[in-house]
Amino acid sequence: MATVKLTNVKKIYDGNVVAVHEFNLDIADKEFVVFVGPSGCGKSTTLRMVAGLEDISEGTVEIDGVVVNDLQPRDRGVSMVFQNYALYPHLTVYENMAFPLRLLKGDKKMSNDEIYERVTWAAKVLGITQYLTRKPKALSGGQRQRVAIGRAMVRDSKVFLMDEPLSNLDAKLRNQMRAEIILLRKKINTTFIYVTHDQTEAMTLGDRIVIMKDGFIMQVGTPTEVFDKPDNLFVAEFIGAPKMNTFKCNLVKDGDKYSVTPFGATIPVDGEKGELLAKKGIPSQEIILGVRPEHVAIAKQAGPGTIKTTILVNEMMGFEYHLHVLTEDETELIVRIPTLNLTEAERAELVTGKPLYITFEGKAMHFFDVNNETNLLYHKDAA
Ligand SMILES: Nc1ncnc2c1ncn2[C@@H]1O[C@H](COP(=O)(O)OP(=O)(O)OP(=O)(O)O)[C@@H](O)[C@H]1O
Ligand SMILES: [Mg+2]
Repeated sequence: MATVKLTNVKKIYDGNVVAVHEFNLDIADKEFVVFVGPSGCGKSTTLRMVAGLEDISEGTVEIDGVVVNDLQPRDRGVSMVFQNYALYPHLTVYENMAFPLRLLKGDKKMSNDEIYERVTWAAKVLGITQYLTRKPKALSGGQRQRVAIGRAMVRDSKVFLMDEPLSNLDAKLRNQMRAEIILLRKKINTTFIYVTHDQTEAMTLGDRIVIMKDGFIMQVGTPTEVFDKPDNLFVAEFIGAPKMNTFKCNLVKDGDKYSVTPFGATIPVDGEKGELLAKKGIPSQEIILGVRPEHVAIAKQAGPGTIKTTILVNEMMGFEYHLHVLTEDETELIVRIPTLNLTEAERAELVTGKPLYITFEGKAMHFFDVNNETNLLYHKDAA
């Protein structure tokens, strides 16, 4: 059992810098929670307060129901992996991993046999058994990263804390290690808090994601929740790549039917979105409309439901194009088009300078309040 509970946790640094405001979160036993957000939003500070590496200015952190505010890091039952995992260069991989165990004192002291058992178990889980006698300088970046994770794993911790553990690795290795962390999590089956600024890492690893901005929590939810029902414009634009297209336009109510009128077109809102707008009785108004690039479609021909644009750039991603297009009022939008079923002639039309008529999928639109940027349909305080 290892639950973590943060109640009204606040961090004020010297000089009255408030890095974290009123952080409230209940983490379940064995849950994998990811803190994500732009640089400086308070992710590491929050994690370090859980670890005991940073004083908690206000509020409480509980692990398994016990307030740990005044406990030393080593007494909190947590292990932490940092971005700059400093391995000891003069020690072998084995000794690097055994190091935290050799420091244990009193009734926690471990015999050499127990240490051997622990270290070889972790090495096996991480697939680094063959490197145990090497020094860190004779390892690749990904292998060193695994040693750093192993060093944290050998301890009997209730909670595993990771602060951007993959950010020093190149893209390919990062993808590989991400998959390994998913497997590792199944093998060690403990509670995880993982910090990253990469939304892909957050989406793929987290049971729940905490999206932060300027020391505030913007939304907590499963990857599906934050993707499909972003609470506000910030979350909508932060989660998903390429980022959601967002712009002002009018929402028009006609009886129980709704449409939007972006860039002079009239596009009906249908499906669950249309029904929910009607159920909530949302009146006609100016809104911020959000449409993900994958929910923009190429229109076969010009018409009242289409928007005329000009192609600025076509980024070939292999399995799809990312088209950057410009509307007649010079708003830039991104369109994702799968390449699979396009003919040569169709591809030849998708180049810089060519006109492109687009439309939006009415069931996949997002509606935000122009004033406070909250989601008109899903924000928790919404009418
Ligand atoms: N020791 C300190 N004294 C004063 N301000 C600090 C201190 N440490 C961090 N801060 C500030 O607190 C805020 C949050 O920092 P934090 O390191 O938690 O951000 P982060 O979300 O982890 O960012 P990154 O993605 O860049 O690691 C920042 O504005 C930072 O400048
Ligand atoms: Mg950080």
